[in-house]
Amino acid sequence: MVSYKELGLVNSREMFEKAIEGGYAVPAFNFNNMEQMQAIIQACVEAESPVILQVSSGARKYANQTLLRYMAQGAVEYAKELGKNIPIVLHLDHGDTFELCKSCIDLGFSSVMIDGSSLPYEENVALTKKVVEYAHQYDVTVEGELGVLAGIEDDVAAEHSTYTRPEDVEDFVKKTGVDSLAISIGTSHGANKFRPEQCTRNADGVLVPPPLRFDILKEIERRIPGFPIVLHGSSSVPQDMVKIINEHGGAIKDAVGIPEEQLREAAKSAVCKVNIDSDGRLAMTAAIRQHFAEKPGDFDPRKYLGPARDWLKNLYIHKCKEVLGSAGKA
Ligand code: G3H
Ligand code: 13P
Ligand code: ZN
Repeated sequence: MVSYKELGLVNSREMFEKAIEGGYAVPAFNFNNMEQMQAIIQACVEAESPVILQVSSGARKYANQTLLRYMAQGAVEYAKELGKNIPIVLHLDHGDTFELCKSCIDLGFSSVMIDGSSLPYEENVALTKKVVEYAHQYDVTVEGELGVLAGIEDDVAAEHSTYTRPEDVEDFVKKTGVDSLAISIGTSHGANKFRPEQCTRNADGVLVPPPLRFDILKEIERRIPGFPIVLHGSSSVPQDMVKIINEHGGAIKDAVGIPEEQLREAAKSAVCKVNIDSDGRLAMTAAIRQHFAEKPGDFDPRKYLGPARDWLKNLYIHKCKEVLGSAGKA
């Protein structure tokens, strides 16, 4: 049993209190490898932003959870070495069982998500409550979820979204004791967040998605004032990255994300954690495809992963400064 406190990590409680008070959201960036982790820390140190390092089940399978935890411990030291002791949370993304959450808590994670959103309501309550009871013994914070996000990824899959029912949130929060709540108001996972027929097209032929359901968010806030809200599936799918990928041999069709202005607006509300993974995947892929097109003879991974890491870093700085408002809040 390792306490995250010994590793220099923090839980999300104070981070979220400050974010709600300050009208910004903390970025939650997924990482699976060293370059992603370096880019996140470099960016958040430079932007002086608090950060949540997220590990999904897919990341655990890909990279090993023990190795990822040591990388997060290393991230704390790395940030100090870069000149700023920013608050860092190590969070399990989309935990689906009590055992998985427990194993992460025992290993040194400071925050876990128990995603019971696909279960019948009472089962979601019971599972979430069980995780909260265990986590709170160790001062680990817990994120629950109500409502279902659409989108297909490795380990997170649902074909249709179901918006969060505002009439459930008060009861859920009270019965489970969760520290934050992920809601469904129209975001979804992956780079194809909407089918083309759900969108309109602007003058340049670019897909424009339907707006987020701010009315549902407002009603949720009215029912649980000041309670930390989380948005998953919040990549914006930068079209310049999609273009670079497709111009260099890629085939990403009809990719559309959540417009940044809408995320900026959400960040000013009780939304205090915004999950971004796909945009990082696109930036890395664009950098690597472009690199190989320009320098086909390169075969040293540092030659193409180095620029990919720089593109990622720039993307994350942009998110902190221009989208979430977390820059300067560390
Ligand atoms: O919400 C899901 C995250 O983007 C993680 O995706 O399960 O493919 O690692 P993954
Ligand atoms: P995106 O696929 O929009 O980046 O969402 C990531 C996410 O919600 C991780 O939990
Ligand atoms: Zn998610």
